[in-house]
Amino acid sequence: MTRERIVSYKPASEEEEKFIWSLRPQTLDEYIGQEKIVEKLKISLQAAKSREEPVEHILLHGPPGLGKTTLAYIIAKEMNSKIITSSGPALVRPGDLMGILTNLKKFEVLFLDEIHRLPTVVEEFLYPAMEEFKIDFVVDKGPFSKTLNIPLKHFTMVGATTRAGFLSAPLRDRFGIFYHLDFYPEGELKQIVKRSAHILGTEIEEEAAAEIAKRSRGTPRVANRLLRRVRDYSQVKRDGKVSLNSTREALKLEGVDEAGLDELDRKLLHMIIDYYKGGPVGIEAISATLNEEADTLEDMVEPFLLKIGFLQRTRKGRVVGEKAYQHLRIESQAGPQEALFK
Ligand code: ADE
Repeated sequence: MTRERIVSYKPASEEEEKFIWSLRPQTLDEYIGQEKIVEKLKISLQAAKSREEPVEHILLHGPPGLGKTTLAYIIAKEMNSKIITSSGPALVRPGDLMGILTNLKKFEVLFLDEIHRLPTVVEEFLYPAMEEFKIDFVVDKGPFSKTLNIPLKHFTMVGATTRAGFLSAPLRDRFGIFYHLDFYPEGELKQIVKRSAHILGTEIEEEAAAEIAKRSRGTPRVANRLLRRVRDYSQVKRDGKVSLNSTREALKLEGVDEAGLDELDRKLLHMIIDYYKGGPVGIEAISATLNEEADTLEDMVEPFLLKIGFLQRTRKGRVVGEKAYQHLRIESQAGPQEALFK
């Protein structure tokens, strides 16, 4: 089942994609947060440029909406080069990659999103491309089959995944650089909100920017989406300026609460509490009860709930954390420790 979530990480429409896109930082100097990654990336890019070599293949992992795609675009731009994008599920056969790889020029960036979802045959086809910059393409079948050995230009592959653990070891080993993107602290999100408001020409109170940051689940994409809704609300219902009051009213209307939870988050927590006495419960059971795909829950819903301690992952399954009971104003039947060993 799919539904639009305002705190979702995927854009709801093409139009929203454009809006989010217009707010992205285009250079590392414009990038707010992820300081260590930005610093290390600057060094790698500068070193590669001074050697006149492409930068090594880079693997970015972390929850959705934190800037993996943005970083890939920045890498291409900083190398004064172009980016070609595709994604794991879009590539079904080696032939789908053939044209892309043979057309790549030196220094160009091939960005593959959701790389953990590459079919095995395509993944194996990528190994020599990444390691030796060549591909072995088999033409014809049976006794007439021939292997064509095609050399490639030295490109840089940037892979992105929400599930680093799902990557096969041979694929992981072919990346020279790994960066893990983590949720952004509120202070950085506030800066991102202020920057976005500035780009949009929207006046915003400090407290309002802080409030949006607080409710953005550590995710710039969510922060920008919330800003958009609050800006619309402030324009229609108020004088256009984004104030703390208009922010609170707009987000209440959207069903985004003070911790940034939306209806689906609350439904998940309530369901575990009501049906499974707070857990432990397996993800498959949660998925069946909520009628939501387990992958969606694991990628889009759980990471932030785990991060803020509203949910805990144990060997026996998911357990609702004490903080969630407090937030939902429900008395817990067992403390978190007891719950873990129930
Ligand atoms: N917009 C979205 N993500 C951003 C970031 N990390 N820095 C600045 N602006 C952003």
